[in-house]
Amino acid sequence: MTDIKRVGVLGCGLMGSGIAQVAATAGYETIVRDVAPEIWSRARANIEKSLAKFVEKGKLAAPDRDASLKRLSFTTATADLRGCDIILEAVTEDVDVKNALWKELDAVCGPATLFASNTSSLTIAAMAAVTTRADRFVGLHFFNPVPLMQLVEVVRTVTTSEATFARAFAFARSLGKEPVAAKDTSGFLVNLLLIPYLLDAIRAVERRVGTVPDIDKAMQLGCGHPMGPLTLLDFVGLDTTHKIAEIMFDEYREAKYAPPPLLRRMVLAGMTGRKSGKGFYDYALNPPAVSDLGI
Ligand code: NAI
Repeated sequence: MTDIKRVGVLGCGLMGSGIAQVAATAGYETIVRDVAPEIWSRARANIEKSLAKFVEKGKLAAPDRDASLKRLSFTTATADLRGCDIILEAVTEDVDVKNALWKELDAVCGPATLFASNTSSLTIAAMAAVTTRADRFVGLHFFNPVPLMQLVEVVRTVTTSEATFARAFAFARSLGKEPVAAKDTSGFLVNLLLIPYLLDAIRAVERRVGTVPDIDKAMQLGCGHPMGPLTLLDFVGLDTTHKIAEIMFDEYREAKYAPPPLLRRMVLAGMTGRKSGKGFYDYALNPPAVSDLGI
């Protein structure tokens, strides 16, 4: 176990709600900040649904589920995160949005509070630098869906102290996750390899190398992947992937990270994947059908 008792989570979208769920289930008092109560209700409903599945499968006892939900609270006020020992940030992938929150929290949290960002592609150093606790700032990069995925990348930037890194590593373990150490370089370990692969799959669609379902099937059956790249893109969110690709392109200036035009068009059209109901597949239909992309 760690010395951490109270966990603050910033943002309860796709990732933040999963992070809040695993923190509460691991026994931590968990308070979540997002911008509007409608967003909490959606997050709470998703958490309840996910916990119900764990109970159904016999992986969680019903009283433990109830206790986990009791440990979970929501707020719109940053100041309510004052008493937290660790802040896990999972807001929109935008450094200005994140840094505005970090500055606010730096002023309200005590000196021992650890700051951890779930960013997929931003530089941890750029966030640490706007606080007065650059030595107590780390990356904790979870994977989607958080309650099911085992991996957490623990990202150490140039200013992160050894003690902070060890504390964050132990915290990730206490959530029942498998942490790995990664350097603060855009994409860390997983996205450094995954993003060019996903972008190449979109390029394959653009060039009509194969159909959307065939590209997915090829990677599932040919490489043993549990899902194809276009299904995975719908899962991750096309807007999130687009932002990550732009940031990685900016860092490395290599063509393999450049977002393909089709990705940009789909994001502009609001086709962000599962979260909007439509991406490479249309989720309004059951089973989901391939979207008409006009190609
Ligand atoms: P999302 O769009 O589902 O959720 C973002 C949430 O942040 C929304 O609920 C939004 O209302 C909230 N938010 C925006 N501004 C806020 C503010 N000022 N205060 C509090 N909440 C605010 O995005 P998602 O996918 O959950 O991504 C969040 C972070 O997690 C990003 O940094 C992303 O790079 C990272 N990430 C995403 C993964 C994915 O598979 N989608 C995987 C691993 C990391």
